[in-house]
Amino acid sequence: METAEGGRQSRPPAGAFLLYSSLLINALFFAHYFLISPTGLDDDDGGSCGLSWALKAAREAEAVAAADCSGHGQVFLDGVPGDDGRPGCECNTCFSGANCSLRSPNCTADANSGNPMFLEPYWTRHAAASAVVVSGWHRLSYRTTDGLFQSVELENHIRRLHGAVGNAVVDDKRLVFGAGSTQLINALVHALSSPPDDGSAPASVVATVPYYPPYKEQTGMFDGRKYRWDGTTDTWANATTHHNSTTKNKTIIEFVTSPNNPDAVLHRPVLASSAAIVDHAYYWPHFTHIPAPADEDVMLFTMTKLSGHAGSRLGYKTWALIRDEKVAKRAYEYVQSNTMGASRDTQLRMLGVVKVMLANLHGDEDIFAFGHDVMRSRWRRLSAVVSRSRRVSLQEIPPQFCNYFKRIREPSPAYAWVKCEREEDEDCYEALLKANIITRSGVGYGASSRYTRVSLLKSDDDFDVLMERVTDLVNAEQYEAPDDSSSM
Ligand SMILES: Cc1ncc(COP(=O)(O)O)c(C=O)c1O
Repeated sequence: METAEGGRQSRPPAGAFLLYSSLLINALFFAHYFLISPTGLDDDDGGSCGLSWALKAAREAEAVAAADCSGHGQVFLDGVPGDDGRPGCECNTCFSGANCSLRSPNCTADANSGNPMFLEPYWTRHAAASAVVVSGWHRLSYRTTDGLFQSVELENHIRRLHGAVGNAVVDDKRLVFGAGSTQLINALVHALSSPPDDGSAPASVVATVPYYPPYKEQTGMFDGRKYRWDGTTDTWANATTHHNSTTKNKTIIEFVTSPNNPDAVLHRPVLASSAAIVDHAYYWPHFTHIPAPADEDVMLFTMTKLSGHAGSRLGYKTWALIRDEKVAKRAYEYVQSNTMGASRDTQLRMLGVVKVMLANLHGDEDIFAFGHDVMRSRWRRLSAVVSRSRRVSLQEIPPQFCNYFKRIREPSPAYAWVKCEREEDEDCYEALLKANIITRSGVGYGASSRYTRVSLLKSDDDFDVLMERVTDLVNAEQYEAPDDSSSM
């Protein structure tokens, strides 16, 4: 046979060909047996690195993670199996097809929910460090270490994280986990209001406009017990300052969100005599500058916005030990009788997640640097387009010095609080819906319908579609008659 170089090669004999083929087939067989077939590895350690019962689960997890969804979807272990018996891709909004490669043209942007999918790429990048194996017998018991309902080790790591980030003083506080911080909203209202048999009037639960709607919704579910939703702080501000008869001997429970959902403003309690529940869901360096560690008596945090694990449902409240022990006991008993603590599987998974965050603080893979970069760039892009508009405007957020990053950082809010400026756009939610943008009306936040909340936390795909629709909306202004835009 002539080679390209012009030399001459002798043809291999047919026997050698058969020998090579047979060796290749054997090699493939062994590779399949030891590296792919789970049963083969149960009897032998070939390629299993000493693993036995965890190996099948690890293989399944990796097989699912390796599926190709074109970067616009994911396959999950508990996804619904298709015709081939395997779960298929679950595509991001506006994408479809077996591997999510088809994009729907002119798709509606859904910027309603605060689903923190912007952190998904971080966790896929840290797949190895954040993976946990949960055995079939992992913490079957109602109780964990020391007979408690919560993991001592997770609690210790969360305390360490607050210390290292410098966003809250928690050493002198009790820490109680709940099924998301949503569960703890009512636990705290229950604890801070009077016991049912003490003859006092119901406690008034209030918040400042614009407030996170579940405070009102959840309190409303139990209205008429020992507390009721009693409007907004501006109604009570005068009365509490002058201690008039309306507020004498009255318990006022004030919800404070800092930074605020929806407008990212850092807040303090405004009613002097209230018992404040300070929700710090977003008080982490990816969403806000950290001027000082928070140190209120009663604080709420959630993994949902910290690490992005909304589906794991783990929130926690911190409770200053100097507070009335009876009240602390009522808060603890609520969670105990309501759910007997947060899921132990979730606590194990969150322990792994907090360890990854701690190990990477201030390094190249710092979750807060990653999160801040993503959210800052989204805010920049949105602000640039909206700055050309006379129809819609955004809240203003100045750059501020951050104690965590040790520098002035640009704004990176979780939400845009959009105002519709035209007289006829009285219902901003409806105005944006007509432009194919789904938002959350300001009315639910106790604010005017001229405002609506736009979520910036979702996936890159969601944000890209949002930018397309907002750009269309703003571009359309230049084709409108001058009279149409003069009514700001
Ligand atoms: C201010 C605030 N608090 C609490 C929560 C609820 O978080 P979780 O998922 O822990 O229930 C949210 C979620 O959007 C929020 O915005």
